[in-house]
This record gives sequence, structure tokens and C-alpha cells, in this order.
Amino acid sequence: MSTSAPSHVLAVCLGNICRSPMAEGLLRQHVQTKGLRIKIDSAGTNGYHNGEAPDTRAQAEMRRHGIEIAAQESRQIKKKDFEKYDLILVMDSSNFHDVMALAGDREEWRCKVKMFLADGNVPDPYYGGAAGFTHVYELVNEAADAWTDQWRNNR
Ligand code: 4NP
Repeated sequence: MSTSAPSHVLAVCLGNICRSPMAEGLLRQHVQTKGLRIKIDSAGTNGYHNGEAPDTRAQAEMRRHGIEIAAQESRQIKKKDFEKYDLILVMDSSNFHDVMALAGDREEWRCKVKMFLADGNVPDPYYGGAAGFTHVYELVNEAADAWTDQWRNNR
């Protein structure tokens, strides 16, 4: 990416209790490790879990790796977020569709939305078991490392 590093990044999934809270914790961890000053938040495309802490399975997987995300609270993405955040990273193509619909025809908002993974979706682990959360951790950790490397190189 040749554009300059963002200052505010928003990770987005459907419920904001599984994937994007893990992405928020991991991006923040890599940002800190690399000495960057970038604000990280997360949100969901729906508001079903507004005000809830991350799913206990997501908390447990992150805690296994020494990252505490229990204090995070689910919230729904809103139009104002396109003004505050300069990069919006979505977990899957359905999230991409929904966030683009919220952006409408404003090109300066649409161009802020990117897939979190370079090559596909972060699978939704909500209806599965603990192994799904481990898989999400691995995918998201590797991509968070790559994103933060890019931001460091474009400082
Ligand atoms: P997330 O997972 O989008 O990764 O937070 C889900 C959380 C809740 C639901 C679906 C997916 N739900 O249907 O309540």
C-alpha cells in the first residue's frame, strides 16, 4: 500500500462479539509492539449485541495468548464512523456489502472500506466450537501483523 498510515482504524464484523473484538485486541497488540500511534476500535453491522462484552469463547482464546479483551463493548457501526476512521477493515464479504450500503454513494467513505484478509473471509465462529476461535485467532493474528508492518513502513 503506498498511501500513508491511518490514524484511526475500525474493525467490523456482524455481531461485534467474536471476530472484530479479536481483531481489535490483536491490531492494538501489534500497534503497541511496533511502537505505532494508531487508535483501534471495532463495531458490528448489526446491533443485536449492543453493550455486550465479547463472546466468552473469544475472550478465552485471546487470554490463552495473553491478550485481555473483556472490557470491550459491542456497538453497531454508524455513518459518523466514516468521518472518524480513515480505514475500516471488514471480516467478510457480507460485512463488506453492508458497510458499503451504509456508505452509500460517497466515494470518500467507500474507499476507506477494505477486507481484513488479503484473500477471503474470516469465517464466522459463532455457531461452532472452540477450534473455530483458534482458527480465527491464527488468521487474524497473521493479517494484523501484515497490516501493522504496512503502517510502520508508510509512517
Ligand atoms: P461476529 O459473530 O460477527 O464475529 O461477532 C457473530 C456473533 C453473533 C451472531 C452472529 C455472528 N448472532 O447471530 O448473534
